[in-house]
Amino acid sequence: MAAALAATWSAIRDRLLTSAAFRRRVSMIPGLRAISRRQSRRLFDLVAGFSYSQVLLACVRLGLFDKLAAGPQPVEEIAREAALPAESADILLRAAISLDLLEWRGKGQVGLGMLGAVMVDNPALGALVRHHQAVYEDLVDPLLTLREPDRPTRLRNYWAYARDGRHFGEKRLDTTEVRDYSELMSASQPLVAEQVLQAYDFSRHRCVLDVGGGQGTFLSHVARAHPALQLKLFDLPAVAELARGRLAEAGLAHRIECTGGSFFEDPLPAGADLITLVRVAYDHPDERVLRILCAIREALRERGGHLLLAEPLSGTPGAQAMGDAYFGLYLLAMGKGRARSAARLTELMTQAGFIDIRALPTTLPLQTGVLLARVAPG
Ligand SMILES: C[S@@+](CC[C@H](N)C(=O)[O-])C[C@H]1O[C@@H](n2cnc3c(N)ncnc32)[C@H](O)[C@@H]1O
Repeated sequence: MAAALAATWSAIRDRLLTSAAFRRRVSMIPGLRAISRRQSRRLFDLVAGFSYSQVLLACVRLGLFDKLAAGPQPVEEIAREAALPAESADILLRAAISLDLLEWRGKGQVGLGMLGAVMVDNPALGALVRHHQAVYEDLVDPLLTLREPDRPTRLRNYWAYARDGRHFGEKRLDTTEVRDYSELMSASQPLVAEQVLQAYDFSRHRCVLDVGGGQGTFLSHVARAHPALQLKLFDLPAVAELARGRLAEAGLAHRIECTGGSFFEDPLPAGADLITLVRVAYDHPDERVLRILCAIREALRERGGHLLLAEPLSGTPGAQAMGDAYFGLYLLAMGKGRARSAARLTELMTQAGFIDIRALPTTLPLQTGVLLARVAPG
C-alpha cells in the first residue's frame, strides 16, 4: 500500500517537474519561487561545477590564497606576480570572487573570501586540488570510463597497487612508484587522524597495528596522543621503507615498528589488541576486502581484540554526493574499489567473523566514517 502510494506520488511529481509550463508557473508564485530558484541553482551548479573546480585549481597553482593571507593586494599587482594579462587576471579574480574564494576589499584590492581563507596553510586540500588534474583527464569521457572500467587510466598508474583487481606482485613496487600517492595520503591524513582520535579512546588498548598504514602519519598522531601505546605499521615493502625514513625524521622511529608485506599474501604482525584500517578497504573490490578482513581476524584470533575501520562511507546523511558521486567515479577510474555503506561493511565484517559491529559518530562524517568491531578470542 505504502509502496503503491509512493509510486503514484513519484509519477505525479515526475510529470509536473518535467513540464516546462509547470516550472514557469511555479516560478511566478511567491513562496514557491524561492524553492524553484534553489532547485535551478543546484542544477546549474552541477552543469557548471567543472569550471568552478578549474578556477580553484588556477588559484591554487598561483599560490593566491597563501599570498593574500598576508593581506589584500591590488588587482594589477596580482596580475603582475601571476604573469597574467590584465584581462585574464580580471576574469580569474571575478570568477574566484563569485565563488567566495576571494572578495573585493575596496580601492581595487582583492583579499581572501570565506572559502579561500580555509585553503590557507592547508596542504591537504591544495594537494588534492592539484591531484584532480589527473582525475579530470580520466573522466573527460565519463561514459568511456563507465563502459570500459578496465582501461588504463592515469589514476591506475598513480595508485600503483590498484592497477588491477588480481595479484600482480604489488610487493615488487619500488619507492619511486609509491612515493607520490604516499605523500598525498600523508598530506590529507591529519584531519582523518583527528576525527578518529576524537571518535575512539585508544588508551583502552595496549598495542595498535595500522594495516596499510602508509608513511606512518596516522600512527604518528596516535603516538603523540598516547605515549604509552605500543605501535606497529604494516604496508607494502616500498611504503614501509618510506615510513621508516619519515618516522626517523620525526623522531618517532623508536615508537613505531614497520613491517613490509602484502595483506593478500603475508600474515600480519602479531601482538596487537587493536588493528586499524584507515582508508584502505574502499580501494578494493569485495572479495579482496574480505581477504584483508580475514587476515586481520587471524592476527587477532589468539587473544581477541578490536578492528577499527575508518574511511568515507557511501550513503552518509548530508554527504551522499561525496561517497556516491565523488568516490564512486574516482574509485572507478582508479581500479575496482567502492565506497561502501556502513551496512555493507558490516556484512563483510560479519562474513569475516567479526562481532559487536557498531558505527562511531565523527564530527565530520563527510571526511571519515568509523566502524568498530570485535573478534572473540580462540
Ligand atoms: C589509500 S592509502 C591509505 C594510507 C593510510 N592508511 C592513510 O589513510 O593515509 C592505502 C594504503 O594501502 C596500502 N596497500 C595497498 N595494497 C596493499 C597490500 N597488498 N598490502 C599492504 N598494504 C597495501 C598502500 O600502499 C597504501 O599505503
